[in-house]
Amino acid sequence: MGSQINKLSKKTWLVTGAAGFIGSHIVEQLLRVGQKVVGLDNFSSGNEKNLENVKQNVGFHYSNFSLVKGDIRSKEICDKVTESVDFVLHQAAYVSVQGSIDNPELTHEVNVNGFQNILHAAKKNNVKRFIFASSSAVKVFESNDDSLVSRQTSPYALSKYMNEKMAETYSSTYNIKTIGLRYFNVYGPRQSLESEYSAVIPSWYKKILNRESPQVFGDGLSTRDFCFVADIARANILAALCDLHMDMHKVYEIATGESKTILQLYDFYRNNFPSSSLAPRPEFVAKREGEIRHSVANIDPAKKDLGYLPKYRIEDGLSATVKWFSENY
Ligand SMILES: NC(=O)c1ccc[n+]([C@@H]2O[C@H](COP(=O)([O-])OP(=O)(O)OC[C@H]3O[C@@H](n4cnc5c(N)ncnc54)[C@H](O)[C@@H]3O)[C@@H](O)[C@H]2O)c1
Repeated sequence: MGSQINKLSKKTWLVTGAAGFIGSHIVEQLLRVGQKVVGLDNFSSGNEKNLENVKQNVGFHYSNFSLVKGDIRSKEICDKVTESVDFVLHQAAYVSVQGSIDNPELTHEVNVNGFQNILHAAKKNNVKRFIFASSSAVKVFESNDDSLVSRQTSPYALSKYMNEKMAETYSSTYNIKTIGLRYFNVYGPRQSLESEYSAVIPSWYKKILNRESPQVFGDGLSTRDFCFVADIARANILAALCDLHMDMHKVYEIATGESKTILQLYDFYRNNFPSSSLAPRPEFVAKREGEIRHSVANIDPAKKDLGYLPKYRIEDGLSATVKWFSENY
C-alpha cells in the first residue's frame, strides 16, 4: 500500500489545520509525492513556521501548495476550499482536552459546528472521501465497564464522538464516504511547546529548557500508545486511497498497537540527552483525577483494511523529536 502512495497520479487534497502539528506533516507527505494540496488554517494553534519547515523539506514541490487563511466556522470559506477537491483530510480542531473543560462553547463551535460546515461542504462539492481526525478520547463513550465510570469525559471527547456520529449519519443519508481515524498519543517534530496544555513529551522538554524536573503524574506506571506523527500522516493518505469494498462509513484506531509506561517513555527520552544533568530525574506529582490507567490501540482493522503499519519505533521517533526541539528552541 505504501508503494500505492508513491505511484499516485496527481489529485487535489484539502488539509484543514494545515499549519498545525499533524496537518503540516500530512501536507509534507502529500507534496513529496507530487500531489496538489490546498491548506486551510486560522492559525489559532498552528503557525507559519511549521509551513516554512515543510517548504524547506520538500523544495520545489512546495509550488503545489496553496494556503487559505480562514476559519472552519465560516460556511462560505468551507464551500470555497472544497471546490474541485478529490479528498478532504480534516484535522482542524480545538485540540486540548483540558482546555475544552475551560472553554466548552468554543470547543463546540469549532469541533462540532465547524466540523459540520466542512463535512457539508465536502458533500455539496462531491469530494471522493472525507477523512477526519478523531481521538482515543471517544472510547470513554463506548465502554460498558462500570469500573471505568470515573474515566474522564470532556467537551473535547464529546465533540469527537459527535463527529463520528455526524459522519456516519451524513454517509448513510447523503452517500458521502467518510473515515474517522482515532489517534492515540501523537508526538514528533513541530508539536507545540507553547501551549499551556502541552502534551507530555513537549511539556517535558519545556521543563528541561527551564531547568526544572519533568513531571510524572501518579506512579508513572500508566500506559499509553505513543505514535510518531509521520505514521499518523501516512494513515490519513492510506485511508483516502484504500480500495476495499468499503462501507460508506468506518472508524479506525491508529497508533502502534503497543503501549509503554510513562516511566519507560522517560527512559527512552533521557537517552537522547548527552548528559543526565540535561534530563534530570522526573518529579512525581499527584495523579490527575479521571485519567485512564491503560490505553492501547487495536490497529488490526487498520492493518487489514488500510494496509497501515507503523514504521517508527519509539526510540527513533523520540530521537528525531528531541533533535528537532533542540534545533528549534
Ligand atoms: N496530537 C495528538 O496527540 C492528537 C490525538 C488525538 C487526536 N488529535 C486530533 O488531531 C488533529 C490535529 O491536532 P494537532 O495535534 O496537530 O493540533 P494543532 O493544534 O497543532 O493543529 C490544529 C490546527 O487546526 C487549526 N485550527 C484550529 N481551529 C481552527 C478553525 N476554527 N479554523 C481553521 N483552522 C483551525 C490550528 O490553527 C492548527 O493549525 C485535531 O483534530 C486533534 O483533535 C490529535
